[in-house]
Amino acid sequence: MCGIIGYLGYREAYPILINGLKKLEYRGYDSSGIAIFCKNGYRLYKSKGKVNELKKKIFSPHKIKGTTGIGHTRWATHGIPDDVNAHPHVSNSNELILIHNGIIENYHAIKIILLKNGFTFKSKTDTEVLVNLIEYIQKKNKLSLEEAVRISLTEIVGAYSIAVVEKSHPERIVIAKLGSPLALGINEREFFIASDPIPFLDYTKNVLYLKDGEMAILSKNKELDLRKILDNHKLSPIIKELQINLKEIEKGEYKYFMLKEIYEQPRTILDTLRGRLSITDGFICINGIEFNKDIFVNAKCITIVACGTSWHASLIGEYLLEELTRIPVEVEYASEFRYRNPILEKEDIVIVISQSGETADTLAALNLAKKKGAFVFGICNVVGSSIARNVDAGAYTHAGPEIGVASTKAFTAQITVLVLLALKIGKERLSITESRYNSLCQELRSIPEKVNKTLKIDEDSIKEISKIYSNVNNFLYLGRGINFPVALEGALKLKEISYIHAEGYPAAEMKHGPIALIDENMPVVIIATKKGCYEKIIGNIQEIKARKGKIIAIVNEGDIQASMLADHVIKVPNISEELSPLVTVIPLQLLAYQIAFIRGENIDQPRNLAKSVTVE
Ligand code: AGP
Ligand code: GLU
Repeated sequence: MCGIIGYLGYREAYPILINGLKKLEYRGYDSSGIAIFCKNGYRLYKSKGKVNELKKKIFSPHKIKGTTGIGHTRWATHGIPDDVNAHPHVSNSNELILIHNGIIENYHAIKIILLKNGFTFKSKTDTEVLVNLIEYIQKKNKLSLEEAVRISLTEIVGAYSIAVVEKSHPERIVIAKLGSPLALGINEREFFIASDPIPFLDYTKNVLYLKDGEMAILSKNKELDLRKILDNHKLSPIIKELQINLKEIEKGEYKYFMLKEIYEQPRTILDTLRGRLSITDGFICINGIEFNKDIFVNAKCITIVACGTSWHASLIGEYLLEELTRIPVEVEYASEFRYRNPILEKEDIVIVISQSGETADTLAALNLAKKKGAFVFGICNVVGSSIARNVDAGAYTHAGPEIGVASTKAFTAQITVLVLLALKIGKERLSITESRYNSLCQELRSIPEKVNKTLKIDEDSIKEISKIYSNVNNFLYLGRGINFPVALEGALKLKEISYIHAEGYPAAEMKHGPIALIDENMPVVIIATKKGCYEKIIGNIQEIKARKGKIIAIVNEGDIQASMLADHVIKVPNISEELSPLVTVIPLQLLAYQIAFIRGENIDQPRNLAKSVTVE
């Protein structure tokens, strides 16, 4: 996601924009830009880095006069963070200037048409394609800006909140929304545009939130003109007076970014799938695979290298890739891999997974793998990060900025990419049947809604369980098969934000030692979804109960056996084994959060931790 901002009125736009962008930086901060309009044109400033870098490029801000302006702080999805890819983007004729939050899924196809019609592009972004599409349609059909915007958006597949200004008409801004947020602040004689109301709350609390499929034409000294994009139908605006205070909005109704990011997962998983899993025919498009298909089809071995939560996602990737592609997979801690002398052959693939794309151990492991001649594929969240720029190919997770140090939405986004990868390669290698491929693709499309349901099913019982166990000194987490790494992830979440010691184990491993720890003071979280080894899991539960351990069981809806034996039950929707980590991890994230919240810990910035470990 990113932050967009705009102003149209009687005040000088510059200070409103630059201060507003600072307040939107939590939405994205890899580059930024502003455009200020006056009678005979506009001044455009863009810079890689945070808004302070942009300000350094503006030598005499007091000389920037203009009461119309737009601004953007970016979280890149297409095109690395740099001055050229930063927004606002300008059309070929230099007439249209646009800012955009979202992803244009069909930008590539549109770009080809525009190139054939003589358009050129400076940036690598999908956004620059949109501003030139609007120009192309406006010129070809001799349309007003608003009509050209409206028709262009009917051609777009993806998500957007945009603001567009025509150089020759600085008294007007056209805005539109689908899938990304867009708030409109309204005062007499002035309009404020922003991704959320933070930047303009000091000026007005009269807010209109555009709905999906709506657009508006903002004109100086004129009434707001709200329309439906599809049929240009005029709408009556519903303006509300905001009652919330500034600080609260950044995190929405959430106390911590971590909780907000846990609840964002239905949308972020949808963003990860966006443009990659076709709605109709189940075709999976990942460019990093498309352009290197032979390497993946003929791979003899895959090694996945990562740290922390990304390492847990790697373990899930091992189950998925071996099960669906029948390629042998090894998973390594990056910190171990980089100091061994790993055996890598030319046909080998190394996958590196990293949310930040800056983890020193993972970057070092990547460089070692490349030195040994392996093909390196990256799965990163931060576009243009060091790891993303050094791999041979890759796929971004598109989870948006993850502010909480404890990783949540990036983890489920990583798993989603790994599922797509395993299905895509499995299909190319004919190692899975057409029917299994189609049913998993069908189920994958339902994941956002299943995660949404999981977030709501047992919210209250998780809070109750957290109250009971918030003062214990130890936790055990158990899982089998593809849910063993989920047990590890649940234990890590609890450790890093509540400081309670927690261990994850394969459930069957209990009897080889850890069962000595079980007594009435030991809560045991066990993932007991009705899959492969369910009967064995029931046996593990009975072994623990026989020693007075307290059982918190993660079960499928309708479960009977495990539910009867457990002290506490948390339900998740029924789902295929391969996709189950995407729902079984959710209650573990919430449990860790609620326990840490009760203990009064600083959940977004836990002690001793950093969001990205860029040192050894
Ligand atoms: C996870 O909650 C932790 N913040 C940590 O283990 C993290 O996953 C690890 O440092 C790897 O970070 P990366 O994904 O950015 O490489
Ligand atoms: N897809 C656009 C880009 O990569 C916008 C990204 C965003 O929402 O920040 O520039």
